Amino acid sequence: MIPFLAAFFVLGAPALALPTTTTTPSADGCTRDLLRFHTEQYINSQIRGDPSALLAIASPDLVYNEDGVSRSPKTGVTALSAPLRIDHNRSSLDTTQCATYTELIVSDPANPRVIGTQLRFDPTGQTLVKVESLVSQPGDWAFNATQTLSYASSEDGKWTTIPEAERDTRAVIQAAADAYLNLFNNPSEVVPWGTPCNVGVPSGVPITNRRYVIDETLGTVDALVQFATRPDSHEFRVEGGKIKFVHTLTIMRNVTL
Ligand SMILES: *[C@@H]1O[C@H](CO)[C@@H](O)[C@H](O)[C@H]1NC(C)=O
Ligand SMILES: *[C@@H]1O[C@H](CO)[C@@H](O)[C@H](O)[C@H]1NC(C)=O
Repeated sequence: MIPFLAAFFVLGAPALALPTTTTTPSADGCTRDLLRFHTEQYINSQIRGDPSALLAIASPDLVYNEDGVSRSPKTGVTALSAPLRIDHNRSSLDTTQCATYTELIVSDPANPRVIGTQLRFDPTGQTLVKVESLVSQPGDWAFNATQTLSYASSEDGKWTTIPEAERDTRAVIQAAADAYLNLFNNPSEVVPWGTPCNVGVPSGVPITNRRYVIDETLGTVDALVQFATRPDSHEFRVEGGKIKFVHTLTIMRNVTL
């Protein structure tokens, strides 16, 4: 049983009310329920444009980056400061590292955004230690939130939980991502392509500083990376060791690394 859900029923909160509690499920360490709760808090913070629920559990030494630049989460120029109408969200939960990755798509023409965010917690899952967010918007590479939303919707039901017996190990999932990322700087790298995923990539691009979030239950890995000089996210769905889908975000606006 998840205590914080029970608390909402007791309080009789309307079904659609955004949780305002900062009470986190406790005692069991870094569980999927706890990480799911944190991603919901994060998404609600983005909807409200108010990071206070996240900041309530933040370490005094919280590292907060947007587009590769250190900022104050209260005054972040692109992400948490503005309320967003979110059309699509999907999260991966990494209980081994106590970390999450969330993809958000906002097609609202007033404020179109495609956001990829990694949250990292201490090993108990109670304290937020790092937030890294890429907030792509008009001006970024191939940015078209409407189109991204349409692709994401076409994959509805295809990023589902993988039956336990068919799951790849974390190492296999990460290796698939690394092979793809290495290909940009090594044309002879053997990438475990699956269908329908098979794309051409440019060469001579080193992809460095890879920070992974891996969810074996979903077969997903997100790597926040430096793509040559640019902040970038590559997220993969891997099935049976093969890459099935790739989602990318590259920040091209003039940000200072
Ligand atoms: C996030 O996505 C799920 C579907 O995957 C949906 O049920 C939920 O309402 C979404 N949350 C928000 C806050 O939009
Ligand atoms: C974005 O994509 C949509 C759907 O594919 C398309 O109709 C629209 O023209 C595109 N917008 C731009 C600015 O390219």
